[in-house]
Parts: sequence; structure tokens; C-alpha cells
Amino acid sequence: MKNMILMARPWAPTIDDMLPSLEAILKSKHFTNFGPKERELSDQLCNMFGSKKFPLFSNGHLALEAMMQALPKGEVIVPSFTFASTVHAIIQAGHKPVFCDIDPNSFCIDVSDANKKITSQTKAILGVHVYGTPCDIENLQDTCKQHNLTLLFDGAHCFGSYYKSKPLGSYGDGCMFSFHATKIFHTVEGGGISINTNRMDSDFIDRYRNFGLSSEGEAISNGSNAKMSEFHAMFGLLGLDRFQEELEARSKISNFYRDHLNDIKELKIPNKILGQNHSYFPILVHYKDPLAFKKRKELLHYLKNQNVMARPYFWPAMHQTKAFQIFSNHQSFPNSEEVSNSVICLPIYSGLTQQELESIDKAVRDGMVVISNN
Ligand SMILES: Cc1ncc(COP(=O)(O)O)c(C=O)c1O
Repeated sequence: MKNMILMARPWAPTIDDMLPSLEAILKSKHFTNFGPKERELSDQLCNMFGSKKFPLFSNGHLALEAMMQALPKGEVIVPSFTFASTVHAIIQAGHKPVFCDIDPNSFCIDVSDANKKITSQTKAILGVHVYGTPCDIENLQDTCKQHNLTLLFDGAHCFGSYYKSKPLGSYGDGCMFSFHATKIFHTVEGGGISINTNRMDSDFIDRYRNFGLSSEGEAISNGSNAKMSEFHAMFGLLGLDRFQEELEARSKISNFYRDHLNDIKELKIPNKILGQNHSYFPILVHYKDPLAFKKRKELLHYLKNQNVMARPYFWPAMHQTKAFQIFSNHQSFPNSEEVSNSVICLPIYSGLTQQELESIDKAVRDGMVVISNN
């Protein structure tokens, strides 16, 4: 039986590369609670992003939660096309999520729609750099400045992305990252925040990871257990030396898909956008066709039968989910709904062979003929 081509496969160091670090950790018996590897990784990322601080977390979701907890309570404007984590973090911190639509080219927040959602209760705009594509940074900065709002980013996908020759994570008052195993740069599970301005209470965020404890050990503010262990930080330090290779590999795969799939009828390939890291490769199946949802499902099924794993990432749009529809105010967000109903992310990671890429190309091509004739 042919092996399934997965949508994502994590990079892993070799045992030989890992041994010296593992030995050092085991010998030190300092496994967690801000050990030397955690601090070294945080320092390196801080330099890379020019951040004021770069606290690390046990996962990206808790980093988002900490960022949200650091805001005064109120409304947070968020695009409806994102992962559930973004909205959960807003709610768990006691804010009200206020949805807005996305730009149909970048799949990121539509700034003019976000502007319409600003009220006297709005505290922040939380943009999402979807698939590593930069949001409309300048317009967001202008809007936030004009209304005295905090500008935050869910940059779960954006490690390695750039905007105007600066790392994308260095924009906004704070930008959260996910270092989950499927990401371009990872620590198996993990996350972090590039804290970029004094508008963010970095001491609160630091403490949040450790039960809100002061240096004397008293709980003085909200907190959780979100510390990154030494073993996870070790993975990060080893991966930092080679994530450029991952970026280059994904960029080549992305070019392959663009060159090979661009002539297929009823398949829309999103435009290349400067600065994106090619962490995902989304395609839109029967975009804007009322049958898109059905056709996309058929294509996913066809691909699975051809041993190609692909994902409808993100679906449903957040304002249409059971958990969050109560925040939708019965509004519709046409771009978010249309993208969400037609998008498929294709396999993309270093290690995909030419033969595998060719079989994905064939499966998508043949699958499109089958579903379009149904
Ligand atoms: C947009 C977005 N936000 C937040 C998260 C949560 O990150 P983590 O899985 O590291 O908790 C993810 C995970 O992929 C994501 O895609």
C-alpha cells in the first residue's frame, strides 16, 4: 500500500545533534522554570525580532491568552477567518470578540470593516497574519493610533515572514507566535510573544506564565502554568540554525504548485504576497460558486483516496461555529465565508519529494475534473 502524503511533517534534529544538549540538561537537573536553554532561546529571538522582551510559553494558545489578559477588559476586534484559538483567548480573558471580515486577496483582516466595528468599548484590534501573509500593517497602525487602541497580532503562522524588510513579528504592540511541531520553526509544543512597545505590560505577561507569582512567590495577578521546558527550548535552539532551509524548501514547493496548478479551471490560486513565508499553500475550489462547499468536500475525499492528505483550514468561519455564533449578531462576513467554504491547504514541508509533489499535482488535477463533472 502507498504511504499517505501528510499535510504537515515536523522537522527533527538527529540524535547526534541532540546528544550534547540532552546531556547538559540531564546533568543540570534544571528541567523547567526558566532554565538556561529557555533563557538563551528567548534572548536569541529577542535579538532576531528587535523586541523589548520575548517571553516563551508552553504553547501558542497560552501566549495569546497572556496577551489578551494584559489588556483592560472590553471589546476586541478580530477577523472571522482564523483558528478557534484566537477567539477562545479573547473570551477566556473576559473580553467580547467583535468579528469583522477579511480581505479576499490576503485572507487577513479587512481594515475598513474593522474600522466600522470600533465603539467606545473597543480596546484592541487583533489581526491574524493568516498563512504567514502580512496584514495591512500601515492602515492598522493608523486606525489604532487614531482611536488609541492596542494593536496585537496572532502571528501563529508568521515566523520567517517580512514586512518592509523587517520581521513581521516586530510590528504591533505585541505579536504572538506558535512553535507547534507543524510550524516552520518549532519547539514541539511552544509559543512566544514579541513584545514590541511599552503599551504591553511585559512584567504581567512574564508572571502570567508562572501562576501570576511575584519574585517573592505571592500571586499578585492573573496567571496560568505556561512555562517552556528546557527540552522544548533545546529543540528550538537546534531548529534556529536551520529554519532558513525550511523556508527555502517551502518556497520552492509553493512555486512548484503555482507553476503546475495555475491552469486548472475552477481552481483559484491566491496571489503571491511580498514577505509571506510560504508556511501553507492554500487553493480555493470552485470559489464563489454556491456549490463550493460540496465540491471542496468531494475533492478532499478524492485526494484522500489518492493518499494525499489536505485540510480545509480554517472551516467553519468563526462567526458560524457553535461556540462563537452568539457573538456574530446575525451578521454575515461574505469574504470569510466564501474563503472558508472553498479553501484547501495542500501538503507543504521540507522533505516532500519530487515524486510526491508530482503525485499531489496529478491527484488535484484529476480530482478537479471528477468533481467538476459531478
Ligand atoms: C491562527 C492560530 N492561532 C493560534 C494557534 C494556537 O497555537 P498553538 O497550537 O501553538 O497553541 C494556532 C495553531 O495553529 C493558529 O493557527
